[in-house]
Amino acid sequence: MNMRIQLNEKEIPRQWYNLSADLPSPLQPPLGPDGNPISPDMLKPIFPNALIEQEVSQDRWIDIPEEILNILLTWRPTPLHRAKALEEALDTPARIYYKNESISPPGSHKPNTAVAQAYYNKKEGVKRLTTETGAGQWGSALSFACSLIGLQCKVFMVRISFDQKPYRKIMMQTWGAECVPSPSNETKAGREVLEKNPDTSGSLGIAISEAVEAAVTDKSGQTKYSLGSVLNHVLLHQTIIGLEAKKQLEKAGEKKVDTVIGCAGGGSNFAGLSFPFIYDKINGAQIDIIPVEPWSCPTMTKGPFLYDLGDASGMTPLLPMHSLGHNFVPPPIHAGGLRYHGMAPLVSQSIVEGLISPLAIHQLECYQSAIFFAGTEGIIVAPETSHAVAVAIREAKKAKEEGKEKVILFNLSGHGLLDLSGYDAYMGGKLEDYEFPTEELEKNLEALKDFPKPKMVKTGQN
Ligand SMILES: Cc1ncc(COP(=O)(O)O)c(C=O)c1O
Repeated sequence: MNMRIQLNEKEIPRQWYNLSADLPSPLQPPLGPDGNPISPDMLKPIFPNALIEQEVSQDRWIDIPEEILNILLTWRPTPLHRAKALEEALDTPARIYYKNESISPPGSHKPNTAVAQAYYNKKEGVKRLTTETGAGQWGSALSFACSLIGLQCKVFMVRISFDQKPYRKIMMQTWGAECVPSPSNETKAGREVLEKNPDTSGSLGIAISEAVEAAVTDKSGQTKYSLGSVLNHVLLHQTIIGLEAKKQLEKAGEKKVDTVIGCAGGGSNFAGLSFPFIYDKINGAQIDIIPVEPWSCPTMTKGPFLYDLGDASGMTPLLPMHSLGHNFVPPPIHAGGLRYHGMAPLVSQSIVEGLISPLAIHQLECYQSAIFFAGTEGIIVAPETSHAVAVAIREAKKAKEEGKEKVILFNLSGHGLLDLSGYDAYMGGKLEDYEFPTEELEKNLEALKDFPKPKMVKTGQN
């Protein structure tokens, strides 16, 4: 039996898949402060032209430039593993597969887009990128990409992760980047938050405001901003994961997959694995596709679909998405990369269309599952990834109860070797499950009541 299904270098996908071309209902446009759709030109101060074109593209397939492929080939194609030991331990008839994105140099799926974004910026003469990071995975991925491609990089790291994860900061510095805790005193957005709440643990929304401000206020015009999730072009670059996985499942002799699972913070690794399978679903396949989020930051399951800002202080356009409100500061759970208030518009529209079925789970179940996984398959996964592992285990147990030979695929989005403090807290009995603060949600949504409302378009073509 094939335990690790590999593709050779020649089999790497040469095009990304763009779900925008196939969604039964079109994405609604981002809106400016006046409520009118923003034009691609308005994005020029922060993104290079090539990425803006991808952001609005309706082409189903977009070529991956050779230069990007050459860098991706240093760790891609990533292996697809059959989780045989896990299956045996669960005594399940299900066949469980996972796509191992943890083998990239920074340890997650994030460099798939970091390399592409750094490449397009460099090609258009940009000298420096700014960004935010939650768990530190994205910041280290962009630092890595910038160092290979020859750009400077500055990362605003959410305060709580900056304190919990000093090694991520050292990684970024090793790749030549500058990393500061957010909120910082370096930007107007950061100073305003610190004045009101000097002890804040920070949030991705605040860090995004700081990174965008730092890019647009650079008078030289040589600095642009880079985002690690949420936007269409980021999700596009991640589809290489699912495109590889499809070829690998075929090699493993699987005729169909029943369940596809990914954890979802801003939606990029989930989208990367699942969008090529959503394409199959749109074309008639029966697949359960499950994005998994933390109970304490339940963007997809409790946040309504509406227009909201991507950041805390209004530096970004209004995006049509599931959101908890841009002022939402989630409880300090260890899965820092899943603490974002919004969800990618493409993922959100897929929820509205009924193509995918989100699930929220508590962190104790996630850590318990991650430890079970480490004890069977050997890999210590990132706290974010543990959400996907937990649901894969739930689904395998369900298959046993139902006596069904299901094929389950999940994304192992990253390793947790620099996130061991979360494991330590769990094993020491110091972690708790947080209930979602409903009153806070109501308060945050109240602040959005005058924003334009997106249409709820469900064509029912699935
Ligand atoms: C390992 C890992 N998985 C998942 C995520 C969540 O992000 P996204 O939903 O964009 O994949 C992160 C974010 O930092 C991460 O580091």
